[in-house]
Amino acid sequence: MPFPRQRPRRLRRSENLRRMVRETHQLSTDGLVSPIFLRDGKKIRREIVSMPGVFQMSLDVALEEAQQLHALKIPATILFGVPPRKRKNAKGSDAWSDRGLVQQASTLIKKHVPELVVIADTCFCEYTDHGHCGVLDAHRCVINDKTLENLAQTAVSQAKAGADIIAPSGMMDGMVAAIREGLDAAGLMETAIMAYSVKYASAFYGPFRDAADSAPVFGDRRQYQMDYHNALEGEREARLDVDEGADIVMVKPALAYMDLIQRVRAVVDVPVCAYNVSGEYSMVKAAAAKGWIDERRIVLESLTGLKRAGAGIVITYWAKDVARWLK
Ligand code: PBG
Repeated sequence: MPFPRQRPRRLRRSENLRRMVRETHQLSTDGLVSPIFLRDGKKIRREIVSMPGVFQMSLDVALEEAQQLHALKIPATILFGVPPRKRKNAKGSDAWSDRGLVQQASTLIKKHVPELVVIADTCFCEYTDHGHCGVLDAHRCVINDKTLENLAQTAVSQAKAGADIIAPSGMMDGMVAAIREGLDAAGLMETAIMAYSVKYASAFYGPFRDAADSAPVFGDRRQYQMDYHNALEGEREARLDVDEGADIVMVKPALAYMDLIQRVRAVVDVPVCAYNVSGEYSMVKAAAAKGWIDERRIVLESLTGLKRAGAGIVITYWAKDVARWLK
């Protein structure tokens, strides 16, 4: 029987009552992943204009960052390489160079901060001169199966360099199986795969493309990234990736896709990660700079929402802030 017998406010009357009945526990740094953007040079720490507080870093600075993350009890980082234009080409071959930025950073971080989990983003858009996530055919369409070979080769070089987890983000069909096969054939059975499984073609990646210099030179990514009108297809992508051997699946972006986080959580039995992407970060930063919102409260509320939806793991540009706020 509803009101006046039912009064949900009864359980909200004091902090201890609220604490007692809480369904999701206070956010902690457990489960947070902090991205690092790598570039050439020494002592470089260049702020990304559209993402205040986020920097491209040379390897020496990236190592200091990794040490800080570990000191703040953040368990993991995800690495993105931003090579200079002169190292980009049609295939994106710098992605699998043993001297590549992600490879060098993986080795350096695992040597000095071995406890920090290193995740390597595995994609070609930062490495190709056309900005697409694979090799193109004569009609400027990404060739799926040719790209798979390059993905496997890139994953093996990243894992050999020390990366603990390979994170393919290009939305190629069969990418998890190809990478798993490549890793196993190279004797890298312990390296895990976190698949960007449910990744939508999204305007929310705008600022990242500045950060990673990875905007496509022509067209967009709608032939490989998902159509945001679809949710069942997202469940299917997640199931396919688990069947191919994904150890973790990801939903991306996060805040406009909470339904997908919840649905994917219900259909797979591996950890689910949400990527709180660049556009979600920049919007809050811009409004906070104007004094229109309280950044800290907005961020804690949003990240708790992602946890409540079912994301055990969250990639966020606020990881260090969260660690400090919760201290
Ligand atoms: C590249 C990649 C993108 C992001 C992560 N990996 C961009 C894209 O697909 O265009 C976006 C991350 C963000 O916006 O924070 N494959």
